[in-house]
Amino acid sequence: MIVARTLPDLRAACAALRRTHDAIGLVPTMGALHEGHRSLVRHAVASGAATVASIFVNPLQFAANEDLGRYPRDEAGDLAALEDEGCAVAWLPDVATMYPPDATTTISLEGPALRWEGDARPGHFRGVATVCAKLFGQVRADRAYFGEKDWQQLQVIRRMVADLLLPLEIVPVETVREADGLAMSSRNRFLSEEERRRAPRLFAVLQACAGDLAGGGAAAPVLARGEAQLRAEGFAPDYLALVDGPSLAPISAAAPGARLIAAARLGSVRLLDNVGVPPRA
Ligand code: PAF
Repeated sequence: MIVARTLPDLRAACAALRRTHDAIGLVPTMGALHEGHRSLVRHAVASGAATVASIFVNPLQFAANEDLGRYPRDEAGDLAALEDEGCAVAWLPDVATMYPPDATTTISLEGPALRWEGDARPGHFRGVATVCAKLFGQVRADRAYFGEKDWQQLQVIRRMVADLLLPLEIVPVETVREADGLAMSSRNRFLSEEERRRAPRLFAVLQACAGDLAGGGAAAPVLARGEAQLRAEGFAPDYLALVDGPSLAPISAAAPGARLIAAARLGSVRLLDNVGVPPRA
């Protein structure tokens, strides 16, 4: 595996990959890789694409009061994991490469970026979309792989790619869960033992609500019960909402493509999860 840390090195590595492969698959990450990231890389490699994974903790997607400083970093472990999964190039740019001091352009979003994480983390999706657009251009990827765990992020990126006519395909990959159902996330490591025991209840409540909503009845009472249950289990829910999957617009009853999304704080950790409605096996 080639480790590229400068744009000229990345360009040389990608040019070589293009001579031997029909397609380049990009897996954008912020490092601290877990099974969820590994699954993205495996999907890219299995598709036959030469796989490039980026590791960049993107300051633009963190607000001033957020956890940029304590975001977990493990470069040696990450590189070993990428190599193990058959990644061809690891792209590790520095902040000056991604955000040169004279840069003035960022991406402004509406549609699926409004509400939910868009409200809870103002500016977050501007940061995500801007860095992803830059990574897509740097790697000139044919496909990029995103986990369904961050459902809203996936829809924001899909919308951006469609709206800006970017020449790549966005490939969604199913959420990878611990044996007890907790969605994998780099931030799970900050849960105390007691919080870790409770954390899978978020997925359990989502599944139960999705089951209740699948019949097509009114969403409001089901969501109110779900929120109350989360509070009773020690979570501080930010939202539990039934939305149209692609647009993230709230809907009042299940419909084709509906998604149940939630964000809830457990101690100092904000957990995100989502399920399809009716629930997929
Ligand atoms: O999901 C993430 O890890 C980040 O938001 C991403 C897509 C790598 C952009 O920084």
